[in-house]
Amino acid sequence: MSVWALLVAAGTGERLGQERPKAFVGLGELPLLAEPLRRLDDSGWIDAIVVAVPAGWEEPAILLAEELSATKVVAAVTGGATRAESVRAALAEVPDDALVALVHDAARPLITDAVIERVLAPLSEGWDGVVPGLAVADTVKSVDGDRIVTTLAREKLVAVQTPQAFPVPTLRDAYAGDLLEATDCASLVEARGGRVKWVDGDPRLLKVTTRADLELVSSWL
Ligand code: CTP
Ligand code: MG
Repeated sequence: MSVWALLVAAGTGERLGQERPKAFVGLGELPLLAEPLRRLDDSGWIDAIVVAVPAGWEEPAILLAEELSATKVVAAVTGGATRAESVRAALAEVPDDALVALVHDAARPLITDAVIERVLAPLSEGWDGVVPGLAVADTVKSVDGDRIVTTLAREKLVAVQTPQAFPVPTLRDAYAGDLLEATDCASLVEARGGRVKWVDGDPRLLKVTTRADLELVSSWL
């Protein structure tokens, strides 16, 4: 089976508040993007990688891949204004004979082979998508402005991460229409009636949003 990784790195990183886009902010000696890129390239589960980066950062991304000898990188495409548009741009590079797309946020640098395997395995059982999730420790409430509307049943909630895996035709169908307000790929598949499974995520797949997150991830390296 051929598995294409779509690494979305085209966000500006507004909340991180650095001069350069988040994927190109330093993590250790290299740009943050280097860590997930190297891990995906090293993974025996991954056959090819497409990276989506902000306009003007395509060449730096290709140079970084060369520096890392990340030979599975097929293209660095220009991302869009939203995450969903960036996924759509990367998906356009995936050939029709590819079987599986594994979409991952570059902002979650510490991707492991173990989680890649967990999201890929159930696809052979006919699921339309598989996502990693973590049980929620806090009580979660739905609010309207400063007023609490209702308290959600915690045992029915999971916080969802990436990588998320889908059969390529399913992901293409999901991205063919309106991208809604989608903040992850699975929500678009769900909206079309797709059956999506969740498997155990990994607390170290923390999404780097703030300076403190960057320091935490850096301490885990
Ligand atoms: N992303 C993307 N294209 C966008 C927006 C986001 O490819 N237009 C990617 C980011 O690069 C990141 C992932 O989607 O890997 C999750 O987005 P987020 O953590 O929100 O990153 P940013 O949008 O860059 O950060 P911020 O919201 O603070 O600006
Ligand atoms: Mg964002």
